Amino acid sequence: MSRTLSAIVAVCDDWGIGREGDMLVTNRADMRHFVRCTKGHTVILGRKTLESFPGGRPLKDRRNIVLTRDASFTCAGAEIAHSVDEALSLLGEDENAWVIGGAEIYRQLLPHCTRAVVTKNHCTRAADTFFPNLDGEKSWRPVETDGGYVIQPGEGDEGVAFEFVTYERVEPSDADKGTGYSWFDVAVDVVSTALDHVVG
Ligand SMILES: NC(=O)c1ccc[n+]([C@@H]2O[C@H](COP(=O)([O-])OP(=O)(O)OC[C@H]3O[C@@H](n4cnc5c(N)ncnc54)[C@H](OP(=O)(O)O)[C@@H]3O)[C@@H](O)[C@H]2O)c1
Repeated sequence: MSRTLSAIVAVCDDWGIGREGDMLVTNRADMRHFVRCTKGHTVILGRKTLESFPGGRPLKDRRNIVLTRDASFTCAGAEIAHSVDEALSLLGEDENAWVIGGAEIYRQLLPHCTRAVVTKNHCTRAADTFFPNLDGEKSWRPVETDGGYVIQPGEGDEGVAFEFVTYERVEPSDADKGTGYSWFDVAVDVVSTALDHVVG
């Protein structure tokens, strides 16, 4: 086994994820899905997302790693990291860890993730924080969709359609990686050829 780092997020149609410290959509089915995915594992989150939880307490039944730049910040039941590298260094070799937000943390840790589990709530809400639109990113592709759900009465924002879409990172193809032959190499070739003609 090796370490797996995945992001898990709930987005609206414009990939908005939050406003004024809160989630945009109430969807209890999605909350249960979130617990099923993350329970028993490590979660990495930003200090602001921690503060959005009830009582500002870490999530139970999970190892919580909270990112803050505040050297004096402490939180009972959570481990604190002061940089992305420090957070990653706290993960074990075989750990299945989840990046759970918010926007700042997703942005910085997504390059380290190989999978993103996205709940798409099909609505739009005024948002001040966003997740990168993976449908517009060549380096991510959807590999699984579990859809056709609607938020039921008593389960939150009744009537909103939603689906769970899993994305995986696409390894860059040889073409994307390039040949390692840059414009500089081309320029050197041209000059060398010209010199060959002059000298030889
Ligand atoms: N829809 C979803 O699935 C979902 C999931 C999670 C959160 N959210 C929403 O997202 C919003 C919060 O997101 P946000 O972007 O404002 O905040 P955030 O990412 O939760 O936390 C940002 C904080 O993390 C710390 N931080 C960031 N980068 C760091 C680094 N490189 N090293 C050390 N510490 C670092 C800083 O804490 P200090 O200021 O203490 O230094 C920073 O203020 C809320 O509205 C929340 O409801 C939505």
